[in-house]
Amino acid sequence: LVQSMEYSLFSGGKRFRPTLCLMVSPEAVAYAAAIEMIHTYSLIHDDLPCMDNDDERRGQPTNHKKFGEPLALLAGDALLTESFLVVAKHYSHRPEVATQLIKILSQAAGPSGMAGGQAMDMNLGVPLDAVAAVEKVHSTKTAELIAASLEGAGVVDGVSLEVQTALRQLGLLLGLCFQLKDDLLDGEQDQTPKSILHFLSPHEATELLARHSQAGHKCLSRLPQSYQHLQIFFDYNQTRNH
Ligand code: IPE
Ligand code: IPE
Ligand code: MG
Repeated sequence: LVQSMEYSLFSGGKRFRPTLCLMVSPEAVAYAAAIEMIHTYSLIHDDLPCMDNDDERRGQPTNHKKFGEPLALLAGDALLTESFLVVAKHYSHRPEVATQLIKILSQAAGPSGMAGGQAMDMNLGVPLDAVAAVEKVHSTKTAELIAASLEGAGVVDGVSLEVQTALRQLGLLLGLCFQLKDDLLDGEQDQTPKSILHFLSPHEATELLARHSQAGHKCLSRLPQSYQHLQIFFDYNQTRNH
């Protein structure tokens, strides 16, 4: 089980979410690790035959191709559960921070966050019939965890409630941009067009991405000077090629 967990956790992900955490607070290392564990679990389950049924991730066999479905399922379960242990243990000397982090993480990963978004994406909930519906899926399945990276790191840093809320808003916009780019990159690889590309041409989707990035820039300008370096994540996302 541990081998299967480590296989996916250390298989060359971009570490986008933990990097976000650390750019807000260098104290947030354990929290950053917990977010990456949740992200990894979500990918292992996302690749399973009953979901996206993918054979490869990051150029290597998916977890279930390597270890079989039972262990892939359990590796996901164990990574999710262990992430909460990491937070509880590491911030036990600051019980209020630990409680808040666990609340932020569980909201981001649960029915109103990643799991809910994945359910909608599988058409188990509302049918996807418009750009707005796809954006709802993007916000929940992807943006909530990215927002939790910024917001939780702010909590570790002891920011005001106002800054915490602004970091969350910024993260939601960044997450929307991130999933739009993911759809565009998948589209380029000539897979069956997914989500947004059912409704928009690649050119229109690229324009939408630029508009959301500008909204992110505006949101960022309302945060203190010490956060302005977060702009690089929007710039990086627009030009990344994987
Ligand atoms: C892929 O996430 C799945 C999405 C939520 C878009 P990443 O692009 O962060 O995946 P890795 O961890 O770098 O492989
Ligand atoms: C995965 O979304 C999002 C998760 C929350 C796991 P996708 O299915 O669009 O991402 P990839 O293309 O498999 O990485
Ligand atoms: Mg997938």
